[in-house]
Amino acid sequence: MSAPTRLGFVGVGWIGLDRMKAIAASGLAEVSLVADTCRYTAEEAAEAVGAQTATPEMVLVGDVDGVVIATPSGLHATQAFQALRSGKAVFCQKPLGRTEAECSAVVEAAREADRLLGVDLSYRHLAATRALRDVIASGEIGEVYAADLVFHNAYGPDKEWFRDPVLSGGGCVIDLGIHLVDLAMWLLDGPEVGQVTSRLFAGGRPVDGRAGVVEDHALARIDLASGGALSLACSWNLPAGQEAVIGATFYGTRGAVSLSNVNGSFYDFRADLHSGTGRTTLVEPPDAWGGRAAVEWTRQLVGGKRFDPQAQELVDLARVLDRIYRR
Ligand SMILES: NC(=O)c1ccc[n+]([C@@H]2O[C@H](COP(=O)([O-])OP(=O)(O)OC[C@H]3O[C@@H](n4cnc5c(N)ncnc54)[C@H](O)[C@@H]3O)[C@@H](O)[C@H]2O)c1
Repeated sequence: MSAPTRLGFVGVGWIGLDRMKAIAASGLAEVSLVADTCRYTAEEAAEAVGAQTATPEMVLVGDVDGVVIATPSGLHATQAFQALRSGKAVFCQKPLGRTEAECSAVVEAAREADRLLGVDLSYRHLAATRALRDVIASGEIGEVYAADLVFHNAYGPDKEWFRDPVLSGGGCVIDLGIHLVDLAMWLLDGPEVGQVTSRLFAGGRPVDGRAGVVEDHALARIDLASGGALSLACSWNLPAGQEAVIGATFYGTRGAVSLSNVNGSFYDFRADLHSGTGRTTLVEPPDAWGGRAAVEWTRQLVGGKRFDPQAQELVDLARVLDRIYRR
């Protein structure tokens, strides 16, 4: 029998711990090393899965086959780069980097090392998103020419680092809008992007020229070279009237299809096919989707998968975000 695939985890706060438990529960690989700059957090996480604690450096260059990164966003690119350069496969939380340049450097490192690189673009893995993809790909709603995408988190982030531009790379756009841009690009099969316009606010005032301030509300329009257009809105702490408003509706020449959160939930989603004033339900909750991207990456790694040129789409995604930020 071949030796089990060994994984190391760097950053086991809220999402890192959640993904570590999902991977451990899959039984696909061995969780061997766990690191977090908070010693108590690392010890508790390691104990939960019978792993050893280590320093972040020891995990990034240590005796593991793959590294799972879930630290504050501004650290991702450097840590992913270091792990790939020392021959590890990497599964990184979104965003992979704060800018296109950072993401590009990581993807190039993965290409050169010929190592699997995955990013937790978790909303691709909803049953509701899969239903949208099937409908759009089947041609049932005709040619998609417009989409409305929203992600309002009425609580906003609960950790200070999210509001520090160096550690976060930005506000609600890089935190939540990234999922909307990714969903649109993925569901429409990588359309060519034309003009991008945006308005970014913090506390109700434009963020332009305000150093050290990240946006808490963003509106963006992404024109497609095909003539289509995408409209995006995302926010933190908006008086949304419920915990969250998350949705994506794609309008085609013969109908529309939507995914939306149910009762303000961050976890429950439905998908519907629209025809005129009528709706047909495609998917309803429950659907345990949170750890799916992480488990899928693990399955691919265990199966021997190496660099996938599809990773270039991570750079394309970052380029659109840069343009929303007008960088
Ligand atoms: N894919 C998704 O849907 C999704 C959902 C939530 C969060 N995220 C992403 O996950 C990342 C983490 O978010 P979170 O809410 O879990 O944050 P968090 O603050 O709860 O966790 C981050 C952890 O990293 C640790 N840490 C900080 N610096 C470190 C370092 N240099 N080395 C090792 N550990 C270090 C902290 O002590 C903390 O435990 C963010 O980038 C966020 O955008 C993704």
